[in-house]
Amino acid sequence: MKQKIFVFDTTLRDGEQSPGAKLTTAEKIQLALQLENLGVDVIEAGFPISSPGDFKSVDEISKIIKKATICGLTRAIKGDIDAAVAALIKAKRPRIHTGIGVSDIHIKYKFKSTREKILLQGIEAVKYAKKFVEDVEFYAEDAGRAENEFLAKMITAVIDAGATVVNIPDTTGYCFPDEFGEKIKFLKENVPNIDRAIISVHCHDDLGLATANTLSGIINGARQIEVTVNGIGERAGNTSLEETVMAIKTRQNYLPYYTLVKTEEILKTSKMVSLIMGIPVQPNKAIIGANAFAHSSGIHQDGIIKRRENYEIIDPKSVGVTKSQIVLTARSGRAALRHKLEKLKINMTKEQLNQFYEKFLELADIKKEIFNNDLLNLYESKSIKSS
Ligand code: KIV
Ligand code: ZN
Repeated sequence: MKQKIFVFDTTLRDGEQSPGAKLTTAEKIQLALQLENLGVDVIEAGFPISSPGDFKSVDEISKIIKKATICGLTRAIKGDIDAAVAALIKAKRPRIHTGIGVSDIHIKYKFKSTREKILLQGIEAVKYAKKFVEDVEFYAEDAGRAENEFLAKMITAVIDAGATVVNIPDTTGYCFPDEFGEKIKFLKENVPNIDRAIISVHCHDDLGLATANTLSGIINGARQIEVTVNGIGERAGNTSLEETVMAIKTRQNYLPYYTLVKTEEILKTSKMVSLIMGIPVQPNKAIIGANAFAHSSGIHQDGIIKRRENYEIIDPKSVGVTKSQIVLTARSGRAALRHKLEKLKINMTKEQLNQFYEKFLELADIKKEIFNNDLLNLYESKSIKSS
């Protein structure tokens, strides 16, 4: 039987930490409403202690969103938790996301502390948050570089303290997929109370491995994924929502999981995030890039015209893209040219098409892309008669 993967969207928190991505409360509300339409399970709305503006955003989003869980981030500090509790007070389903660094690098150089003290601080934070809300997620920051035995000790202790979700972040994007999967497997096998919590994975893309690591996490037992729209986030970004959700949907024969994301809303959400944050999407970005369903070489175009599945593993409509595109360039072949001409109601014999193709190539060698108007002009100027 297929198992559900919970989608925890952190576009409004980790995503907003991208340089230049700062959002106003009104913008955050607009995006939160679209994230709810998209069908994510959890919206991490912000970090309430970080600024009065972010507190207000979490408060307003808590009032408006009805279906999704609303989550506020905190450090393992009482004042942070108090701020999150106040900001989430009107949420139908509130979650506090608290945690602390667990790698020796963080413990030694960031906190100038010891493993024992960090362990106690983590436990105290969960116990304190639990006084106010039932749903408490604990993040073991920099788990990717942490020693597995200490990580397991920490996770066991915070689940005993009441954590409902345990987040294993690869904060610095350091792990390789097998290594990260092994870490999740290690926790499944070495944390005695692990069945009382959901394992979450939160990966960063410093080595371009965030999606691969997230999928490896799922295969090894994680049931929540922390993602952002367009993969935006600190430094090289977070795991992209669209990539992981579509990987799960597209490869159901390989991965027996599903999410509740309405994938037809993906492109609309991506465009909204890009526009509001002022961060363009690269054309070759998987799923949502302008070229994700565009075909420009002759061999591929011929294949696509014969049957879309020859070169596409995803139906563009399933992510909100109207249709695949045939782009005419100097690498295009006669099949694509004929296809475009027929759409313009110009029919040619084989001989006429061969002649026209020569002229087309001359122009295509000068211009990067040939549009319908170019074809019409070329057709008029060469006075090739339709059959
Ligand atoms: O990357 C990270 O470790 C985080 C935590 C705050 C969850 O964003
Ligand atoms: Zn992060």
